[in-house]
Amino acid sequence: NEAPVITIDGPAGSGKGTISQHVAKKLSWHILDSGALYRLVAYAALDKGCSFGDHDALADIARNLDVSFLPQQGGVLKVVLEGTDVSQSIRSESAGEAASKVAAVISVREALLERQRAFAEPPGLVADGRDMGTVVFPNATLKIYLTASAEVRAQRRLKQLKDHGLNATLAGLVSDIQERDARDMNREHSPLRPAADAHTVDTSNLSIDEVVSKVIGLYENR
Ligand code: C5P
Repeated sequence: NEAPVITIDGPAGSGKGTISQHVAKKLSWHILDSGALYRLVAYAALDKGCSFGDHDALADIARNLDVSFLPQQGGVLKVVLEGTDVSQSIRSESAGEAASKVAAVISVREALLERQRAFAEPPGLVADGRDMGTVVFPNATLKIYLTASAEVRAQRRLKQLKDHGLNATLAGLVSDIQERDARDMNREHSPLRPAADAHTVDTSNLSIDEVVSKVIGLYENR
């Protein structure tokens, strides 16, 4: 595939989603929110009453996921699962937690691999997730790894959840984030870690614009 790809990986709340949207908009490229796919598998599994221990059933759900991502005003994607708008429901902290559980299942990851690669269409793709640079797009044009302190990430998550009309407390979010990081970093398959050739950017003290400029600058001067 000829399309250039910028991968943006990092832990929960590092700013991946926001930065990816801005970078994709600046370049007029496509976007892949890979976390949404794992959230959708978890959501569909819960909806169908499928146990997270039933790996074959989970992989089946992942393979047959009937989902469309529809661009909305402001660059936000509307996520439609089997005809139902689930954009809000998959954003909850519990959906994130559930996603990180199904994401540890190797057959689920394998089932989603080609689906993710198919997003790499001209003029280019910004792919956000945990293993975009390490596993899904190992030959990406530019690889970014975003980090930020757990405290800063929890603050951002709190704001994000409030913007979506969802409730949470800062203390609860800090511990949720630490728990999710530990699960994502210590799992056997595709653990969260920077690719060897990734540029690490600590976003704790940077504005959105500063991070976006940095990424665009790295792309232009690669
Ligand atoms: O990025 P987001 O918070 O939406 O991701 C939800 C969960 O999905 C993560 O905690 C992680 O366990 C999983 N995930 C993954 N690989 C990706 C993207 C997300 O394992 N590429």
